[in-house]
Amino acid sequence: MAAESGSPRFLLVLALALIAVSSSWIGTARAEIREMEVKSDERSIIPFDEFGFTRWGGLELNVSGISFSGIDSPDLSQLGFFLSTRDAWLHVLQQLQDHDITCALQSDLVTLVYSFDSLVPPPNPSGVPVARSTSIRLSQDVTEHPGQFTLVFANCLPSLRVSMDVRSALFNYPDPADHSHRAYLSAGAAVLPLVYSVLFFAYAALAAAWAAILIRRRRSAFRIHYFMLAVVVLKAFNLLCEAEDKSYIERTGSAHGWDVLFYIFSFLKGVSLFTLIILIGTGWSFLKPYLQNREKKVLMAVIPLQLVANIAQVAIDESGPYARDWATWKQVFLLVDVICCCAVLFPIVWSIKNLREAARTDGKAAVNLMKLTLFRQYYIVVICYIYFTRVVVYALVTITSYRYLWTSVVAGELGTLAFYVFTGYKFRPEAHNPYFAIDDDDEEAAAEALKLDDEFEL
Ligand SMILES: *[C@@H]1O[C@H](CO)[C@@H](O)[C@H](O)[C@H]1NC(C)=O
Repeated sequence: MAAESGSPRFLLVLALALIAVSSSWIGTARAEIREMEVKSDERSIIPFDEFGFTRWGGLELNVSGISFSGIDSPDLSQLGFFLSTRDAWLHVLQQLQDHDITCALQSDLVTLVYSFDSLVPPPNPSGVPVARSTSIRLSQDVTEHPGQFTLVFANCLPSLRVSMDVRSALFNYPDPADHSHRAYLSAGAAVLPLVYSVLFFAYAALAAAWAAILIRRRRSAFRIHYFMLAVVVLKAFNLLCEAEDKSYIERTGSAHGWDVLFYIFSFLKGVSLFTLIILIGTGWSFLKPYLQNREKKVLMAVIPLQLVANIAQVAIDESGPYARDWATWKQVFLLVDVICCCAVLFPIVWSIKNLREAARTDGKAAVNLMKLTLFRQYYIVVICYIYFTRVVVYALVTITSYRYLWTSVVAGELGTLAFYVFTGYKFRPEAHNPYFAIDDDDEEAAAEALKLDDEFEL
């Protein structure tokens, strides 16, 4: 019952949970054609990209500008690219520790893609030294086992530094007989274009229904109700862009500009949704026509934070999980997201407090109790929404198999849809306002309930 008194501690727990989950969450790579520059790198293992292969997959690798420093004539068989699953990698580490092998490339648990000793041209009969080639171009099928694989470069020569530009594309063949048609989305993400399209239609229907309600109940509609329509429309466009973006990536490996539209609508959707939650939380336009100073401050803080979150989102999506700074951006995004989620709860808590005080003083207990109940419900539902779309969905990502990655997207989107529907239903424009249709019996019962409520509070 005592939502307001427990809230600071609850917010702390929520924030901690979000951070804990984020640190264990390893991203879902937007598999597409990737570029990465390796500069004078000494690391023995450099991961590039991650991809879920079906039974029939393939990869294409263009490496250029290969150069070595640190050792004069390195043994190139100690360098190369391979594919490995996470499980296999743990066993490889064990093999290395037991000195069964000296280099990950020697393990029979990984799929060797390219060993750098192929770089050296075969010795020619005349004995004239031939310059070593500095680029690789290879395209090969990966048909061994389906699974979530990581493309890794191994350098088993401790003081050798490697520089190169790597372009990699990992893909599946939707039709094993037709190798001209490639699908660049990972196995678990291949249905996402369809999922987003279906959701687009759901939100379009929701927007149409809401518009119809607004027209029918024009006289009891407040400004906030028109704002809600805008939020739903933006969400629908955001989903449409995401569907197009994903389906282009699926077919061609790159987004062809749809990602830019997607980011724009993501930003607008993010800002408008948070603004809406805050405005409803403050009771703006249906309880009072103005915003208090502190409520304006929350709004002024959340909008620029959403901009930061969006910039971080772009950086996360456009690089892979193994890019430099990826983890930093991820942390920035999560931190900002946690702050925004906590910030939107404050106006609701303030409203609940105000309503409680008003109920005690102005004698209209029943009216205030109804509003109080509504705001408490809203508070709980906002928390559930935040908790579900952040913590539960990320937890789902970690526990589901790579093939069912889309299920966590569906779960998160259904949770969001339920939140939109709940908000719309609870705060719909009323033909007759129930707050004013209350008789004396209700009034007495409410005063009684409020007294009980106070006792619980203490
Ligand atoms: C590799 O190079 C070839 C030829 O230049 C090009 O057609 C192909 O798209 C490149 N692949 C990647 C993954 O960059």
